[in-house]
Amino acid sequence: MASSRYPLDEIRARCDIAEIVSGYVALRRSGRSLKGLCPFHAEKTPSFTVNRDTQRWMCFGCGENGDIFSFLMRIEGLTFPEAVEQLASRTGVQVSQAVKDGRSAGERDLVLRVNNLAAVYFRELLQKSTEAKDYVRNRGVVPEAAEKFQLGYASGEWRDLSNYLKSRGVKPEEAEKAGLVIAGDRGHYDRFRNRLIFPIFDAQNRVIGFGGRALSSEDVKYINSPETRVFVKNRTLYALNFARRAVVEQDCVVIVEGYMDALTAHAAEFDNIVATMGTALTPEHVNILSRYTKRAVLAFDADSAGMSAAVRSAPMFEQAEFDVRVAAMPAGEDPDSLIRHGGRSAFAELVANAVPIPDYRIGMLRASHDTSAREGQLALLKEAIPIVAEVARQVERERLIALLAPYHPNFRSGTAPAEAHLRQEIDSKRARARTGTRAAPARPGNEKRINLLSEEGKAVRKAESELLGNIICRGLNPSDVFSELPPEEFVTEGARILAAAVQEDCENRGTLNIDELTTRVAATPGERFLNEILVTAAEPSDVPMADLIGAVKIYRKKEQEKRYRNLAERIERGEIKRTDKEFAEYWQLVRELHT
Ligand code: CTP
Ligand code: MN
Repeated sequence: MASSRYPLDEIRARCDIAEIVSGYVALRRSGRSLKGLCPFHAEKTPSFTVNRDTQRWMCFGCGENGDIFSFLMRIEGLTFPEAVEQLASRTGVQVSQAVKDGRSAGERDLVLRVNNLAAVYFRELLQKSTEAKDYVRNRGVVPEAAEKFQLGYASGEWRDLSNYLKSRGVKPEEAEKAGLVIAGDRGHYDRFRNRLIFPIFDAQNRVIGFGGRALSSEDVKYINSPETRVFVKNRTLYALNFARRAVVEQDCVVIVEGYMDALTAHAAEFDNIVATMGTALTPEHVNILSRYTKRAVLAFDADSAGMSAAVRSAPMFEQAEFDVRVAAMPAGEDPDSLIRHGGRSAFAELVANAVPIPDYRIGMLRASHDTSAREGQLALLKEAIPIVAEVARQVERERLIALLAPYHPNFRSGTAPAEAHLRQEIDSKRARARTGTRAAPARPGNEKRINLLSEEGKAVRKAESELLGNIICRGLNPSDVFSELPPEEFVTEGARILAAAVQEDCENRGTLNIDELTTRVAATPGERFLNEILVTAAEPSDVPMADLIGAVKIYRKKEQEKRYRNLAERIERGEIKRTDKEFAEYWQLVRELHT
């Protein structure tokens, strides 16, 4: 992949991989490397590791690995040239026009540039419009918040933005790609008109889209940018760019529904707030959040849509092993109105009193039945049992059973009989649900990868990694190793490929070059082996070289003997013919093992 047309080394030298990765993954120091939850698979304990010295990353859980460019490609869905150009512009490295002209300008870059121009323009218009400024003031938005969220205004005219963008050299078709203008029968016109504008940022503070709030009650209340190359609604959380640091620090995220809710909450110094922009929470949202925390509080509107969105999201959070709670909003309020009416403390109290989703659902049932009467109690239990049966963790179910026991008729004879009966009903409901779904396929994707290596195999892999690490990272002369243990005798496939590449590279140029090495092993098991070494390079080993080499040799010999015995038995049983490949392998082993 080392495309020499690009100034890759220069970009690498000016980038800090830790800083870039931190935009997506909360990294914590662990020894001499940095660790976080892998963004490429679901995990509970951090195995995603970044090495600042070598500028490489690797997830020891799922095996994904690479450098700064491959990280951006994976996480942003970029092509290699797009990743290079993004990092080049961030670090101020010039990519020559000749290289750029060699391909069509990236649509992503284009949309981001157009969005940026529009955001600046909308902000200017807000300053110029008394009506819009009045609206902002009447909604209680303080100037600091308007500034922080870069609020703007789209005028009521049909082509204000279109004309402005044209004057800045943006073609109508380009503005259309950004979703800012619409092609109509009589030419292009602006999508957002007479609206307060909320720029939508990604975690890197780039404007990826816009939300527009109608100033007039006659218009549809909100319209948003359509999906573009950079704006994918179900993966976007509004205000995450402002919240991500606080989410990590407080190890908790509060999720609200609306732009205004997020803005007002941040203005009231609730820093760990993000908004879903009205859409239901998606697994992508949960996955993104899980990079920062595993604790969420849902502070959705008190209306039924908000509540059912909270309830529906329960399985997603449960699967991602979140501690998720619901803050029940007083009737008719949303976080924005609550903070403005009740002050900071009203919302803080609500969040502090948030309860797990099943408790919240049972609470709603309790409110809807007359639980002072026997019928009401039975009705409550009838509806509550399925809710508890859905809860995956047994301790949680027990907690809820204890909560429900007082409503059970058996309760008169004591807590235990009531709980026992509830437990039995819940368990049988769970058993029925299981048999009903037994045929369902296992969830793809997140299952843990099984490490097929035995303990001994792992030790040898480590020895090989240390040997090659000493050469690659600590300047050990390759022939010191290869004279004793030639590359083809390395046991692990990745190590064998990497060792051969090291030898070739040294023979060709006299010294080792890591970029060259990277290219040589690209897309082979050697690539992972190399990145693993570069990521863990921080810790030199104190095992003597001779022992490392000895360990590999002994293991190799044992494996060969195993193979030899296996082949010998099968030849005896007549399962292998003289013309078979395995017959030749057998004789090769005989020669190697007995000399
Ligand atoms: N939303 C949307 N399109 C709509 C309605 C709502 O995208 N037609 C999104 C917006 O992100 C909005 C959020 O859903 O902020 C919540 O909607 P709603 O509760 O109706 O609006 P509020 O956020 O309360 O807005 P306001 O306070 O301005 O009335
Ligand atoms: Mn509102």
